[in-house]
Amino acid sequence: MDKIIIHGGHPLTGTVKISGSKNSALPILAATLLTKDPCVIQRVPDLSDVHYMLQILAHLGAEVERASGVVTVKAEEVKSVAPYEIVRKMRASICVLGPLLGREKEATVSLPGGCVIGDRPIDLHLRGFEALGAAVRVHGGNVKVLAPSLHGATISLKGKFGTTVLGTDNVMMAAVLADGTTIIEDAAREPEVVDLANFLNKMGAQITGAGSSQIVIEGVKELHGAEHEVIPDRIEAGTFLIAGAIAGGKVTINRVRFDHLAALTDALLACGFYVGGANGVLTIHANGSLKSLHLKTQPYPGFPTDMQAQMCALLATAPGESSVTESIFPQRFMHISELKRMGAAIELDGATAKIRGVDSLSGAPVMASDLRASAALVLAGLLAEGKTEINRVYHIDRGYEMLDDKLGELGAHIERVKV
Ligand code: EPU
Repeated sequence: MDKIIIHGGHPLTGTVKISGSKNSALPILAATLLTKDPCVIQRVPDLSDVHYMLQILAHLGAEVERASGVVTVKAEEVKSVAPYEIVRKMRASICVLGPLLGREKEATVSLPGGCVIGDRPIDLHLRGFEALGAAVRVHGGNVKVLAPSLHGATISLKGKFGTTVLGTDNVMMAAVLADGTTIIEDAAREPEVVDLANFLNKMGAQITGAGSSQIVIEGVKELHGAEHEVIPDRIEAGTFLIAGAIAGGKVTINRVRFDHLAALTDALLACGFYVGGANGVLTIHANGSLKSLHLKTQPYPGFPTDMQAQMCALLATAPGESSVTESIFPQRFMHISELKRMGAAIELDGATAKIRGVDSLSGAPVMASDLRASAALVLAGLLAEGKTEINRVYHIDRGYEMLDDKLGELGAHIERVKV
């Protein structure tokens, strides 16, 4: 198991190339199951979650080839069963359910369990499949969906914590091959949903409204192969902006979409940083002193839950009182106790982290608990005095392509140690 060691206090300078989005690539790869033809997906990040998805596609019968960021999938024949051994490693495996149901009219996928960021039900996905005419049965740890035929329907995906991103993806992928018109109300508006809809449309689907809360899908008889480039990873981009902010210096990120980053760049401007650029290139540097902030995670276009932990790390040394409220995953605060071990003064009050800015953090051995919590600990380590040792870094490798190498190129004193 690798660990990452950081000696903090070194400003970062330079330019970093942002990878393709993990959360776009995963459902897009799953969507290749909807056609017998080859599909070519570009800018696929080299991440363990992507490897798991390619393993699942191969298990389901697809031919998968991969060469430097380009993945070709040809799913001439597919099996409709994805067992526990193959899907247990990644919760996003659930997004093969929609395309398998759409194509085969049946699918059995092992149910994802909860995870450290909280209970992660799929009731909204299943509600959508039922509305399309599928019978749903949960048995022996698996969910089986079966439909003699799928028909269009009007479906609301509103749940207790708002809408669902992968649920919107799943219902959209099942509905593209249903008879008639499907209307998804309260759909997720995330850029990754739009990217998937764009790919499906290239395959011959007829989807309008993606990016708004109402998506309309006119069912078609079949889909064909297509080529697509995955959008830039807005969460990786945001993590590098905060790295530049927290470590000092001047960091430029390139190949990004400004519109996807607006909530984060607004927050960083409010914290007192300069953030600006043009043509997909964005630079951050200090612009006066760090200011405290009160923010709340929201579905897109609000502040993303996937940047919440990193923002807590930044605000740990902002003078005065800050607060960060988590409205998507109220228990997603595993990073707080580790940040406190580094000297942060943070108290949890329900789903709100109340942060009293301290003068500095100190390096410590800490434990990564999930992907974004781990990123927050790396960021804190860049600022902390002395040595920070981050254990269980496989969490980071699930979602950041060469994070330590990229930070090292910017001047961070960071190394990966094989244990
Ligand atoms: N929810 C339900 N019922 C459902 C589905 C979701 O109650 O059927 C609840 C969840 O428990 C949560 C909220 O709705 O409280 C939102 O969950 P959502 O379904 O939107 O999450 P997801 O689609 O499973 C994706 C990303 C997450 C990201 C969330 C929210 C992927 C592979 N994962 O998960 O990314 O946090 O949307 O934006 O796209 C990450 O990259 O680190 C990550 C966790």
